[in-house]
Amino acid sequence: MKVLATRRYPGPAFDELADVDVRALAELVSPRPDVEGLVVANEPVPVELLPGLRLVANYSVGYDRLGIEQLARRGVAVSNTPGVLSAATADLTFALILATRRRVVEGDAHIRAGNWTAQWTEGFLAEELTGSTLGIVGLGRIGQAVARRAQGFELRVLYAQRTPADRDLGEYRELDVLLSESDIVSIHTPLTPETHGLIDARRLALLRDGACLVNTARGEIVDEPALVAELVSGRLRAGLDVFVHEPAVPAELLRLQNVVLTPHLGSATRQTREAMPRIVVDNILAFERGEPPLTPVTV
Ligand code: DGY
Repeated sequence: MKVLATRRYPGPAFDELADVDVRALAELVSPRPDVEGLVVANEPVPVELLPGLRLVANYSVGYDRLGIEQLARRGVAVSNTPGVLSAATADLTFALILATRRRVVEGDAHIRAGNWTAQWTEGFLAEELTGSTLGIVGLGRIGQAVARRAQGFELRVLYAQRTPADRDLGEYRELDVLLSESDIVSIHTPLTPETHGLIDARRLALLRDGACLVNTARGEIVDEPALVAELVSGRLRAGLDVFVHEPAVPAELLRLQNVVLTPHLGSATRQTREAMPRIVVDNILAFERGEPPLTPVTV
């Protein structure tokens, strides 16, 4: 099967594929009817340029940008990389929670600017994590991994999701109630038409003064201009790994000390970035054998 990959994905797994072309989608100017398999990292699939497409093996657990309805209508199978990035993303969530709450980046900047002059500084006072309430929006694989880590930090965990589940990882709350009861809110729901703009201006206003919002899911789940306004006012703190127009970040955020920014690093560990291509290639190999994808995405 002729496979088109939009970049050279890391690790040796791709060597197992017999026929791979590496080409960015932007370089596709005329139709490629020979291509049957496509590897993308959650990018919009130009179906009109790929009339022979049978499988999209997505190098990402999130598939919100692929256009899955259109792919389903054309009978194109889709796979993703679930599971292998849950620990990495949960770890980054805690890195952002800790950095934001304990003012780690501000402290680092203080030293680098040559401003540390006394042995103990009286500034940078923060709220302890122990005993705080963490509200998890979306208790899927990543949300559960965050909840497990929260137990070690002695956090009280609340969670909101579409259907309440009998979980021992936290207490279920309606989303609005969770937002008003939490000191830290962390977003772990996938981006879907239902979650687009889920945390809008009204819901941001429900957050307590000084609360911290962490987003390692997708920028579009939060009303970004409304969040920027809350951060500019100094009412909230935030740890953000995802943005609406990546790699662009709202300019106002670059000047603020109450927000910690990372460039979509959720899955960026060596272990995860080696496991993801393995799953992508295993899906393609299974499909080539005439089997359904191992980790299918269904509409
Ligand atoms: C995913 O896989 O959806 C992540 O956003 C990649 O880091």
